Amino acid sequence: MIHLTNIHKQHGSQILFSGASLQILPGVRTGLVGPNGAGKSTIFRIITGEESVDDGTISCGKKTVIGYFSQDVGEMAGRSALAETMSAVFQVVKLGEEIAKMETAMAVPMDDDSLTALLERYGDAQEEFEHRGGYDLETRAQTMLTGLGIGPDDYHRPVESFSGGWKMRIALAKILVINPEVLLLDEPTNHLDMESILWLETWLKDEFKGAVLMTSHDRIFMNSIVSRTTEVANQNITTYSGDYDFYLKEREIRRQQLLASHRRQQEMLAKEEDFIARFAARVSHAAQVQSRIKKLEKIERIQLPPEQKTIHFEFNEPPRSGDNVIGLDNLSKTWVPEDGQAKEVFSGISGMIRRQEKIAVVGVNGAGKSTFLKVLAGQVEPTTGTASLGAGVEVGYFSQHSMDILHGGLSVFETVQNVLPTANIGTIRNLCAAFLFQGDDADKKVNLLSGGEKSRLVLATLLARPLNLLILDEPTNHLDMQSREILLQAL
Ligand SMILES: Nc1ncnc2c1ncn2[C@@H]1O[C@H](COP(=O)(O)OP(=O)(O)OP(=O)(O)O)[C@@H](O)[C@H]1O
Ligand SMILES: [Mg+2]
Repeated sequence: MIHLTNIHKQHGSQILFSGASLQILPGVRTGLVGPNGAGKSTIFRIITGEESVDDGTISCGKKTVIGYFSQDVGEMAGRSALAETMSAVFQVVKLGEEIAKMETAMAVPMDDDSLTALLERYGDAQEEFEHRGGYDLETRAQTMLTGLGIGPDDYHRPVESFSGGWKMRIALAKILVINPEVLLLDEPTNHLDMESILWLETWLKDEFKGAVLMTSHDRIFMNSIVSRTTEVANQNITTYSGDYDFYLKEREIRRQQLLASHRRQQEMLAKEEDFIARFAARVSHAAQVQSRIKKLEKIERIQLPPEQKTIHFEFNEPPRSGDNVIGLDNLSKTWVPEDGQAKEVFSGISGMIRRQEKIAVVGVNGAGKSTFLKVLAGQVEPTTGTASLGAGVEVGYFSQHSMDILHGGLSVFETVQNVLPTANIGTIRNLCAAFLFQGDDADKKVNLLSGGEKSRLVLATLLARPLNLLILDEPTNHLDMQSREILLQAL
């Protein structure tokens, strides 16, 4: 259905793909995996035509309808959540409006010929409308929104009143409503809570009949949906015929085999070279030596893939804080949105967070976890009560939306420098390198970074300072498996 063949793509000196190929087949669900910055999102953008390739071909059936959910949400405003969700199928919506207009027109008396012509057009329009699922469009849109945690009470709220994370859900609902033949999903679970993830999983498995190409760092989700796994790494694309766990096992097997053949080849080469060296000076063996040299030149050397680079860092020794880290006294928060409907998120919270405690904040969709953490981090004023920091507490706050406060125009280096104004250039370069922005990468502008690279940068700016209280809101979203492991160990 969609074929990328022998593609080559390069940004400056960074080669993303060289001679890579990928196929999307009807109804097949494929997971797209690989380290941060390998080029997964780039593949999506190549398929949708947002980015071009330097070489190679891309073929896609003309009529193939593609739905693309990207890692960044575009701007949305001026519509209700429901209208926004339906707007994706705008031709169908427009058709519906035309049908309504024709119905009004029919109520007005007219001559027979005009009426016949109108009826004919009306019939055609109705048929197409039905064919495209126009009659249940609204119901479908409602199902998607509700499944993703936006219930009937919120259908008619203006989109701009939703927070970034919730806008992402509307964007996702919008794409599901299209019911495309090919669904491209870039990290769809990042903005969802458990219930919505389960809903999406069931929907993709039971309702959706098209092809899926999807990235996700959620292994369980991935395993339950995909039947093929495509890895993007080392400038290449490799497809494995199984789910994520199969891929991990199979990749290890292939790696071992490659190591073994590499070792055998090295031994063979060493022997040959040894022979050549020994007999090179003997005239009697000249022909033999020459032919062996020729043979050696022709042998294609087995290349071992480079080890995946991982971030490495150690926390700075932070100053010791008092034993009482945050005292909570009758804390409450009520959001008053512009349309007036006040919403109490939590109230009556009192207690003490003590030094060296590690606390998990859990709760369903919209329970107020992020709001609570924002109040603790001093990002948001509580409605009543206080959250008071103890003596010597140095707070660091990370949220998935911390990425939004990065300045797109600054480079990686400048971003780090801004939080460590007194550090010297060498220290900042080292810190950048520890978070895998090596050499030229540190001079990259932030708006060019991949999702995971942005998270990494935010973590770098956060963890560089000597902190003794970390408030982390979903810190692992967008990070690849290895980076997650390392963050976990460091914590
Ligand atoms: N216009 C550009 N100029 C220079 N480099 C770019 C540009 N666009 C993307 N890149 C780089 O290309 C690489 C691949 O980016 P891409 O977004 O495809 O990665 P990804 O595999 O989706 O990563 P992640 O898992 O973090 O989402 C990144 O290193 C990114 O910084
Ligand atoms: Mg990406």
